[in-house]
Amino acid sequence: MADNTKTADPCVMVIFGATGDLTKRKLLPALYNLAKGDHLPHKFAVVGVGRQEMTTEDFRTSVREMLSEFVPGGAEATLLEWFNSRCYYTGGDFDDDKKLFGDLRSLLGDVTTEHQIPENYFFYLATPPQLFANVTQKVVKNGLGREENGNWRRFIYEKPFGRDLASAQKLNADLLKIVREQQIYRIDHYLGKETVQNILVFRFGNSIFEPIWNRNFVDHVQITVAETLGVEQRGGYYDSAGALRDMVPNHLFQLVTLTAMEPPVSFDADSVRDEQVKILQAIQHYSPEDVLHCAVRGQYGEGSVGGTAVPAYRSEPNVAPHSNTETFTAIKLSIDNWRWAGVPFYIRTGKRMPEKHSTIVVEFKKAPFVLFRETGIERLRTNRIVIHIQPDEGITLHFGAKIPGPIVNVGAVDMDFNYSDHFGEQVSTGYERLLYDCMIGDATLFQRADMVEAGWQIVQPILDVWSALPARDFPNYAAGTWGPDESDSLLDADGHVWRHPA
Ligand code: BG6
Repeated sequence: MADNTKTADPCVMVIFGATGDLTKRKLLPALYNLAKGDHLPHKFAVVGVGRQEMTTEDFRTSVREMLSEFVPGGAEATLLEWFNSRCYYTGGDFDDDKKLFGDLRSLLGDVTTEHQIPENYFFYLATPPQLFANVTQKVVKNGLGREENGNWRRFIYEKPFGRDLASAQKLNADLLKIVREQQIYRIDHYLGKETVQNILVFRFGNSIFEPIWNRNFVDHVQITVAETLGVEQRGGYYDSAGALRDMVPNHLFQLVTLTAMEPPVSFDADSVRDEQVKILQAIQHYSPEDVLHCAVRGQYGEGSVGGTAVPAYRSEPNVAPHSNTETFTAIKLSIDNWRWAGVPFYIRTGKRMPEKHSTIVVEFKKAPFVLFRETGIERLRTNRIVIHIQPDEGITLHFGAKIPGPIVNVGAVDMDFNYSDHFGEQVSTGYERLLYDCMIGDATLFQRADMVEAGWQIVQPILDVWSALPARDFPNYAAGTWGPDESDSLLDADGHVWRHPA
């Protein structure tokens, strides 16, 4: 993990897709927040690249507007001007390597001279994945990808990284023909979340949890990433992806691997990622028959979220009227290793759920009942550790305590840790840490090629069965509910229930 005493080298960030939503909502505000925290190098510049023709002045005007809108509380005038005077733009056709990439090369020459920045570049591909290899190739062909004279060149790729195992393998192979793995940063913004990073500190920086973090004590694990939003303006992309591709091999598997992995020998990038990939490799692969029992899919119909009526998925903009794309999935995973054999990991994610929350619930085995036989207590509740990832950030321990009075009775109580009570509210888009890590060359929080492929390998049988047997019962949950009944049955079959936040 990043050494936060390290200062980032002077560098230029080149954003392909600079007029898009990600740049506006996340990347520019994250850079601004880094500047505010004094984590950006003093010699720094941003070069935006997009299809749209626009002057640097126009770009600066839009950067000013974006930052005023998307930095909570607005941007500070002096800092905004400092940042804005370091933003540049060049536009054109991404297929035309001579014009656009030639212009980019000469603009980078001017910018590095003007700000006396050595030629350290990181290229952020906030573009559709079909362009990843092509744009990388053109950058390299125009002499901008080679690391020489001590200068570095790095490439960040947004998700989705492929749409199945074969396309992810091809993309990895294509990129590795052009650049080295050490130059590649496959981003997963879940790893930029403080609470996700805290899983490692919680598990390995405290001596009291690790001894019970295994099949001898843990009954099962539940991971939920629930969203209240529908597909907003992304119907076109989402309808060809679906909840499984969009969330599982990336965000959900990050949470699974950090929860389940063995302690790494150090926090350096490869040690951590070696342990994460071992978990993915230990997850049992499904036969088509297993898929029918262990993977649930759902699509929302019309309903109401937070008291507001919302349309069915099939009525969302850019979604096919008879779409069979899933907007919800729940899966039971078995990690077949010494720590976790026999401990199911249930994961679920969905759009238009009743509330936004991402949590990891570690549910412990029941205590023996013998002492309570002579009391009126019918059953003991199980202990649970809940890691709250968002919107609340913290950790809760659920346990039983005696209810005061002459009769022995047990009540359910909690011990709570909230980040904001201890460390104040942090203003973060989740991208700050990842951009900073790329600048200092730390790839720990980025996905390695083998992790991406191992993730797709697990979901591939589900994709195959679902495409061979299109769902017949969609829509099968109303917007504003916790998904289809089959999701509850998945746990019920093992005697469990989904834990909703208190
Ligand atoms: C993105 C998905 O990667 O993550 C979106 O493409 C999803 O569909 C988003 O809404 C969720 O991110 P977060 O940080 O809001 O949980």
